[in-house]
Amino acid sequence: MMKKIVLIAVLSFTSAFAQVEEPVEVPFIPYEIKMGKGFDAIQANCLMCHSFGYIINQGRQSKDFWNKKVLKMVIHFKAPISKEDVEITTDYLFEHYGNGELK
Ligand code: HEC
Repeated sequence: MMKKIVLIAVLSFTSAFAQVEEPVEVPFIPYEIKMGKGFDAIQANCLMCHSFGYIINQGRQSKDFWNKKVLKMVIHFKAPISKEDVEITTDYLFEHYGNGELK
């Protein structure tokens, strides 16, 4: 979904400056967000407080690590994340930023 928004932004940017002789540069995207099942849950439950960078900075981690991180957000920072979304976001994080270890 984000990619589409970026693409639309790029397209409208290019057409608005179509008269300019200089080549139009595509905006630099600092890190790649991996799309997939559960991304909507991440967007709804995590990105309200901080950027995706916090997640990427952790590197690849175990499922247990991610589960505890999500729970830390709930317990420590009072993130309003439902039990179901805790599971969905943990699964997403482990699938895309996991190290294959459960513990
Ligand atoms: C209610 C606000 C809030 C929500 C929602 C939230 N976080 Fe956080 N998160 C924080 C705060 C506050 C920090 C600590 C910021 C700091 O130390 O500068 C943090 C830090 C982190 C870190 C950095 C490591 C650490 O332990 O501090 C990770 C990883 C992280 N969050 C992941 C998530 C994920 C994944 C979600 C969604 C499931 C999420 N957060 C949702 C507030 C939130």
